[in-house]
Amino acid sequence: MVNYKELGLVNTRDMFARAIKGGYAIPAFNFNNMEQLQAIIKAAVETKSPVILQVSKGARNYANQTLLRYMAEGAVAYAKELGCEHPEIVLHLDHGDSFELCKSCIDLGFSSVMIDGSHLPYEENVALTKKVVEYAHQFDVTVEGELGVLAGVEDEVCAEHHTYTNPEEVIDFATRTGCDSLAISIGTSHGAYKFKPEQCHVDPATGRLVPPPLAFEVLDAVMEKLPGFPIVLHGSSSVPQEEVDTINKFGGKLDAAIGIPEEELRKAAKSAVCKINIDSDSRLAMTAAIRQVFAEKPAEFDPRKYLGPARDNMEKMYKHKILNVLGSDGKLAQC
Ligand code: G3H
Ligand code: 13P
Ligand code: ZN
Repeated sequence: MVNYKELGLVNTRDMFARAIKGGYAIPAFNFNNMEQLQAIIKAAVETKSPVILQVSKGARNYANQTLLRYMAEGAVAYAKELGCEHPEIVLHLDHGDSFELCKSCIDLGFSSVMIDGSHLPYEENVALTKKVVEYAHQFDVTVEGELGVLAGVEDEVCAEHHTYTNPEEVIDFATRTGCDSLAISIGTSHGAYKFKPEQCHVDPATGRLVPPPLAFEVLDAVMEKLPGFPIVLHGSSSVPQEEVDTINKFGGKLDAAIGIPEEELRKAAKSAVCKINIDSDSRLAMTAAIRQVFAEKPAEFDPRKYLGPARDNMEKMYKHKILNVLGSDGKLAQC
């Protein structure tokens, strides 16, 4: 058993309180490998932003939970080496689906966990979330719960349609579970195909497909019920068209990939939404750069020559999100 404080990590409590007050959101970036982690830490250090490193159940299976934990510990040392004396780095379990998984992450040094009981009947979601909170809070680990179902794939769970969060349930849920933050469903979804083209209209100026707006009225109603309570948005990749174009130009086949417009996320970040989850945009940035090297330099077989450009492209994307979308730059408690 190791406590996250020994690893130099922090929980989300203080950074969320500051983000709500300051009208910005903390980036929550998923990582599965060293290049993603290096890019995230460099982007966070260079912009002086707090950051949440997210590990999904799939990432644990792919990269090994122990290795990921040591990588997060290494990330703190790396941030300091890059010149950030007081980095604020959270190691967070994304979409935990059982008490046992959450406990195992807490025992291993995670500073924050999500217990996602959103697909369970309401009372079962309350009971499971409460059980995780009771365990986590003994070690000052913060807990994210979820109410409402996002369309799309969440690890092994796949839902065809959204069920928006019911604002009538949020007070009861937050009070009875004691969770520290709440993920809500307002029209975002996981992956690169968030909307069908027939749901969108064409912007006459750019010729691009514009998806329907997020359900800000649901977010407003939630904030009215739980003033100042930390709200989380999952499924918040924007699916940049230039990355999709590069992937398709160099042999990929991503048809009608559509994400959340960045203006919508900027608007959300100014509210009680204080954590915004981004994974697919990193996958796209990585894939686009690798495909380009493979197509333009077919004789190249040194992984550093294609993973290096992939890392640079991800870092550029992470910085853009921090500076131009979430507004978390310069928001470390101590620079
Ligand atoms: O919520 C889903 C995240 O993008 C993690 O995806 O389960 O494929 O690692 P994953
Ligand atoms: P995206 O698929 O939109 O990047 O969402 C990631 C996410 O919500 C991770 O929990
Ligand atoms: Zn998610």
